[in-house]
Amino acid sequence: MATAAVIDGKAFAAGLRERIAGAVAKLKSEHSLTPGLAVVLVGEDPASQVYVRNKAKQTVEVGMHSEEHRMDASSSEADVLAMVDRLNNDPAIHGILVQLPLPDQIDSEKVINTIDPAKDVDGFHVINAGKLATGQDALVACTPVGCVMLAKDALGDLSGVNAVVVGRSNIVGKPVAQLLLKENCTVTIAHSRTRDLPGVVRGADLVIAAVGRPEMVKGDWIKPGACVIDVGINRIERDGKNKLVGDCDYASCAEVAGSITPVPGGVGPMTIACLLHNTVRAASAANGIETPQM
Ligand code: GUN
Repeated sequence: MATAAVIDGKAFAAGLRERIAGAVAKLKSEHSLTPGLAVVLVGEDPASQVYVRNKAKQTVEVGMHSEEHRMDASSSEADVLAMVDRLNNDPAIHGILVQLPLPDQIDSEKVINTIDPAKDVDGFHVINAGKLATGQDALVACTPVGCVMLAKDALGDLSGVNAVVVGRSNIVGKPVAQLLLKENCTVTIAHSRTRDLPGVVRGADLVIAAVGRPEMVKGDWIKPGACVIDVGINRIERDGKNKLVGDCDYASCAEVAGSITPVPGGVGPMTIACLLHNTVRAASAANGIETPQM
């Protein structure tokens, strides 16, 4: 029985954070510049609180300035826009992240598009999305960047690779497809309504599963030897236990794939590392400094 190589996103992210820490030390010593990241959290969503705590911890660990702005769940849209405006105008802050989801009374799109595009380290602003789509230098969404880093580590040069992205969200599916095009892949974006989805996925040398459905992609959908990058983080009940699973059925996919990311420990750890990476880029650009090697 063939068994896929496990792609260790946790170790890759740790290595990337080490290189980021080196870049931050260089910016501090050579340019007296400390990159600063502000996170805005509105309300008390427990999953969001965990993310935000991890972000703050890792930001400080690489030597950056970290700010957390917690706002009441009943905050108005105007309150949140005023916070974003304040951070846009704060020279100590180079990256702004507004944690999603936002409470229902707040228009997320409006908030995101109020962030200064040069400080949009999530890469969600329409200017950054448009720059990515037209091949211009942009701040790119963190999870897609993390996926492509892991795919390149597993497969080497991606030129000519048949990539199938399952999922078409603005946060992962669309930007990861754009990044793969930039790497000269032949890219198909499939989704829950795709006809013969298993057949389409079977043509892929590289599968990016970002559809948000637990264990949807099965082993008999995978071309033998393909690289499988699983973006899903789904909580399910199994055998009376709460379990975290991806969008791929890991056990059956790992029997066929050449390499595969586990959940947890695959793509997840890459997201925050790429956020820190974007913050170093934003801080360097804001000060007219060439981004240090990371
Ligand atoms: N909520 C879950 N993941 C993310 C993320 O990457 N960025 C933001 N802003 N909110 C999130």
